[in-house]
Amino acid sequence: MLPLLQDVRRRAHQVVPAPALDYLETGSGQEVTLGEAEQAWRDWRLVPQILAGVGPLSSISTATRVLGDVVATPVLAAPTAYHRFVHDEGELATARGVAAAGSLMVLSSRVTVPLEDVADALRAGGTPWWWQSYLVGERAVTAGLAERAVAAGATAIVLTGDTPYVSVRTRTASGPVPVDEEVLAVNMARHVPRGADLSTALAQAPANLADIRWLHELTGLPVLVKGVLGGEDAQRCLEAGAAGVVVSTHGGRQLDRVVASAHVLPDVVEAVGGAAPVLVDGGIRTGIDVLVALALGADAVLLGRPVVWGLAAGGAQGVGDVLGAVTADLAHGMGLLGAADVAGVRAARHRVVPAGLRR
Ligand SMILES: Cc1cc2nc3c(=O)[nH]c(=O)nc-3n(C[C@H](O)[C@H](O)[C@H](O)COP(=O)(O)O)c2cc1C
Repeated sequence: MLPLLQDVRRRAHQVVPAPALDYLETGSGQEVTLGEAEQAWRDWRLVPQILAGVGPLSSISTATRVLGDVVATPVLAAPTAYHRFVHDEGELATARGVAAAGSLMVLSSRVTVPLEDVADALRAGGTPWWWQSYLVGERAVTAGLAERAVAAGATAIVLTGDTPYVSVRTRTASGPVPVDEEVLAVNMARHVPRGADLSTALAQAPANLADIRWLHELTGLPVLVKGVLGGEDAQRCLEAGAAGVVVSTHGGRQLDRVVASAHVLPDVVEAVGGAAPVLVDGGIRTGIDVLVALALGADAVLLGRPVVWGLAAGGAQGVGDVLGAVTADLAHGMGLLGAADVAGVRAARHRVVPAGLRR
């Protein structure tokens, strides 16, 4: 982990109250998947190209395009729930930090301030953002929120496909996740039909492949599917109308002992075959992790917990610092790999190999 992230995590752990901290850090089951995520990126080795004519460091460009959106960095903010658990301004501060870094925010449907206010903060920074969607018991809630996201300026929908129900979370299993219904009500409750039970209406519901097209037709936006962990599943999603996939274990919070994102990424990239963007998250903690992901064929990466640590430790500034530090480390690594821009890294596909002796 980058020293700055270590520092930000330490400070977050000092200020976030215990139940919220457990919620932030927990995995599921024995936390095997959570425990493997970071190491899995270190299982790859890079073969640099020397005398490639790149440099100085200030000339290395991390700018790229993801779907239609132009960003200064391929290091994006993953959808994470309930930012007001860790900072008074919640997602408003996160949005300003993401804007300062020239990144893109995937806004969780569990957002704790009115989503239109977050959209305003992002618009002020000229920052693109996507809306993360779950299928919840009352479809009118999913639809109502997605329609509001479109009206507020979201440019894509991210359908989280790995959560037919929320898994038992190891560190919060003994007590309820500290979700204040008033906090949820900020965005969701107004779409719940009168008389319906709030917790049933808002509980996750099974989603299937047809929901990709349903969301696309409802919103007119491209739909990416998050939680893909195999080439075959990626193909199924694309055939069903997905505009992209996010390789993700949900931060080790859904099925424990699923394969690490870093290990399965090449299979997904190969199955997609350049037909759509492939994003990846889980355990990314340095710019070199990002470099490996891009060299394996990812179009961009997402940071989950590190963004929330930054928010807890230092509000907007903390979020901007986290994204900025990982981006700076990426740029540094790019030049040493022999790549002056993101396209150059992705052209290095044959130059990332498993660690250890090769036969
Ligand atoms: C506190 C927390 C809340 C999360 N909330 C959501 C969510 O609302 N929707 C979603 O699709 N994923 C959610 N995730 C998963 C993240 O989007 C992402 O896949 C994961 O955190 C990436 O791993 P990392 O934390 O190691 O960077 C959450 C993760 C955490 C840690």
